[in-house]
Amino acid sequence: MPTGKTSVWETLAPRNREFGPGTVLKAFTHWRLSKGPDEIAWLALDRANESANTLSEAVIAELDTALAEVEGMGAKGLVIRSAKKGGFIAGADIRDFKGATEGRDVEKRMRWAHGLIDRLAALAIPTVAVIHGYCLGGGLEIALACKYRIALSDAKLGFPEIRLGLHPGLGGTFRLTALIDPVEAMTIMLTGKTVHAKKAKALGLVDEVIEERHVENAVRAAVAGEMRTDRGSWKSGLLGLAPARQLAARQFRAEAEKRAPRQHYPAPYRLIDLWEEHGGDAKAMQTAEITSFSELLVSETAQNLMRVFFLREKLKDSAKRESGIRHVHVIGAGTMGGDIAAWCAARGLRVTLADLDHEIIAKAIGRAAEFYDKKLHSSIERRDALDRLIPDFEGAGVAKADLVIEAVVEKADVKRKVFDGIAPKMKEDAILATNTSSIPLEVLREGLAFPDRLVGLHFFNPVAKMELVEVVAHDQASQATLDRVHGFCGAIDRLPAAVKSAPGFLVNRALTPYLTEAFVMIDEGTPKETIDRAAEDFGMPMGPIELADRVGLDIGLDVVRMLKNNLDDPIPEIPAWLEKKVETGETGRKAGKGLYAYDDKGKPKRASGASPPGPEMTDRLLLPMLNACVRCLREGIVEDEETLDGAMIFATGFAPFRGGPMHYARSRGAADIVETLKRLEERHGSRFAPDKGWEALGWEALSGQT
Ligand code: NAI
Repeated sequence: MPTGKTSVWETLAPRNREFGPGTVLKAFTHWRLSKGPDEIAWLALDRANESANTLSEAVIAELDTALAEVEGMGAKGLVIRSAKKGGFIAGADIRDFKGATEGRDVEKRMRWAHGLIDRLAALAIPTVAVIHGYCLGGGLEIALACKYRIALSDAKLGFPEIRLGLHPGLGGTFRLTALIDPVEAMTIMLTGKTVHAKKAKALGLVDEVIEERHVENAVRAAVAGEMRTDRGSWKSGLLGLAPARQLAARQFRAEAEKRAPRQHYPAPYRLIDLWEEHGGDAKAMQTAEITSFSELLVSETAQNLMRVFFLREKLKDSAKRESGIRHVHVIGAGTMGGDIAAWCAARGLRVTLADLDHEIIAKAIGRAAEFYDKKLHSSIERRDALDRLIPDFEGAGVAKADLVIEAVVEKADVKRKVFDGIAPKMKEDAILATNTSSIPLEVLREGLAFPDRLVGLHFFNPVAKMELVEVVAHDQASQATLDRVHGFCGAIDRLPAAVKSAPGFLVNRALTPYLTEAFVMIDEGTPKETIDRAAEDFGMPMGPIELADRVGLDIGLDVVRMLKNNLDDPIPEIPAWLEKKVETGETGRKAGKGLYAYDDKGKPKRASGASPPGPEMTDRLLLPMLNACVRCLREGIVEDEETLDGAMIFATGFAPFRGGPMHYARSRGAADIVETLKRLEERHGSRFAPDKGWEALGWEALSGQT
């Protein structure tokens, strides 16, 4: 197989991108150096054997050698750019960081890397970063070490480190706060959001935004010192003063508290401290950045968040297949169907949307328009997405669709009736998918002429936020069907998790004992707020009571009933008050009232002053969930622990810094969990009995030692 080196260089360079003179003076493994008659040196990064540029130690070490070469060749200026189509540099190579345990070792490596970036920053000649596509983390830090930054209009710049439990570590903290308004700089680093080229120019983060054909001229102007730059703001001066920084830092901390509690996510607070203490003093900030970054990197939070990064990559990889799906027909325009349709149209597919009730279709289209207004960047994108989303009052889309998604009410007989009506009209190779939350596919496929093309595509609520889709297989589904729907998930930017058909599949089966235990606690008189606190303190984005309201108590009740009828999992009895609430329409957030009452912004009205959760409460909620996860693994509902962890994180928001339920179970130790379950069983009943699947996780071996 040819390496990325020659192919990209030879095929892309002459046609698409300006890399300076065609003759390469020196080709390293990852970098390529050339120099033209105007005496400007060009260094292009084309990381070998990788489709995207990331910074590994080898890439940085080679940059050092290349810079020495540049210094020796008497160039008038130096351009750094990427030879990869997708972008400049996507950040550090996280594989280098995974598993690091020794802060001091990391610190040594970081100090070495800083030395090299400082060398770039100190070059006596003008240096220019030419940026296209993504320019993230370490990539942005290299660009910041250059004197000028020229962006192409598709550039996206940012520091996503915070999402990995880190902050910038290669000079970003002091170079960005020195270059642009420090409040904007801190916001970029604290939120991890990317900044598009235009905004980057407005902030002074890049000096020019141009098209590819102007690159050479812009570079010449920069090297000749003729490029106009707009640097430094009055705020930089003001925030050089400690009292002003203290005030801003207080606000940053208050914001951070709302998003990420300090005990679970230390990185934002470390970054704020760093800036508050040393802001304006580059040297001191650099020293503090190296120490703080190294300590964070070896922390459990960062290591677990890196695990989550790789879990996402694994699920993404499983979606890299061709789907052949261009037109999707959605039946049922309610909460789920409406949102699935809107999402698919936003991602470029043609969508027809049908429902028995025409008004519900109209409402769904209205909701989609609001969503596009908020989330799509240009008016053209918004218009195109709306054009692709077609209300289908006659159900005519069925005959043209490559994929039909059913999202009608959670009743097997209703769903089968819908199938009876549409199956004869579908194209010969079209796929039929159901969004059922819990009904086994074996039940739904009865009477269907093409069970090989039936599959479950279980989206989660809200569709735009929850990245996961459970791809539910049954023993008559064809591999081609499963491959195509995996590809479909990739095409619409969702993460597929392969699961087997069984009541509740994986996610709802694991969630149900967690939610129902919360209902038992309500019956014992524990305040709702206290129950939710117990889960939130563990790191869940919301507690089980709020989650039940979010899902909808009617949907939740259907799922619990289904699981109780079809499994012998030890699920607590359904409380009479829950059935009553559903009957009277108090179905949760969507109804404005459920277990909580909701304000007009959809926020739960919580009573203040509820007692803090007792020591056992978190385990009572969490361990039945882990027990169900272990059971699903034992029964082969899900293939491996990584898919399970990814599914629970991306479908339910399971505390990401814990690395997923199975990772948490392994870190805490199977023996400890089993002992605790047994204690809870004695105190509260057989629903806590440990599943025998724990043996596979080393429970027997460990308990045998005691
Ligand atoms: P919903 O009640 O909001 O929407 C159902 C829609 O189906 C209604 O608009 C109704 O008019 C329509 N409908 C009923 N019978 C029909 C028929 N014969 N032909 C065409 N349209 C028909 O329900 P929701 O919440 O959207 O749930 C739909 C499905 O998605 C269910 O299977 C549910 O279990 C599943 N689901 C729900 C989730 C949630 O959080 N709400 C999450 C994941 C899956």
